[in-house]
Amino acid sequence: MRKLIVGNWKMNGLRQSSEDLVGGILAGLPAGADVGVVLCPPATLLAQVAEIVKESPVEVGAQDCHPDASGAHTGDIAAPMIADAGARYVIVGHSERRSDHGEGDALVRAKAEAAMASGLRPIVCIGETAEQRRAGEALSVIKHQLAGSLPALSQADSLVVAYEPVWAIGTGDTATPADVEEVHALIRTALRSGAGEAGNQVPILYGGSVKSSNASELLATADVDGALVGGASLKAEDFLGIITAAAALA
Ligand code: 13P
Repeated sequence: MRKLIVGNWKMNGLRQSSEDLVGGILAGLPAGADVGVVLCPPATLLAQVAEIVKESPVEVGAQDCHPDASGAHTGDIAAPMIADAGARYVIVGHSERRSDHGEGDALVRAKAEAAMASGLRPIVCIGETAEQRRAGEALSVIKHQLAGSLPALSQADSLVVAYEPVWAIGTGDTATPADVEEVHALIRTALRSGAGEAGNQVPILYGGSVKSSNASELLATADVDGALVGGASLKAEDFLGIITAAAALA
């Protein structure tokens, strides 16, 4: 499967810095690389980034959406608005939304279904905390989150899953390839049991302190189909290093 490298800018970026960053990424993209690249800027920059990348292979995603298509929800952004801004993906259930905004599995699933209904590909995030891993509960937490957060698997061809252990996000700590492989195998099994053969085609991304120096090893791990990158997606050179590592494995 073609590797998918997704940059999650989180709450970073103004119009000028965004233009510079996207320009740098486009200028340095390895020619002919068989790698999918998605940039997820904050909502204020979606339309601008979509405009800059429109003649390139780079695609755009949002970082969250509301489960409803419209209505009285001050401050929220609906999936059709995201599609209208030129994006094709949306991250849902990121651990920072689960912890900062108390989002649970049922809401994450509703958001993923709303995304699909608008023709977007949801990137559904799951991952255990450090405490849960220490208690030996990592796999059961993942199973539970999968059961609760994944949308109906009849549309598996538009789904992306991201495993982001909470303790690896923004800490510089990454899960070992063996731990990643174990969790990704469990996710793959769940996808196959829900979607049959189509479950094999759902990209499973790893996220948590991915950088150019560890990308090759992580991306070469079984069932790791790409990366969801936070900090290292904010500098063109760092992000390009990860894309180049993915291209070398294609
Ligand atoms: P870092 O790459 O900064 O650890 O962030 C990972 C992440 O949360 C991507 O969604």
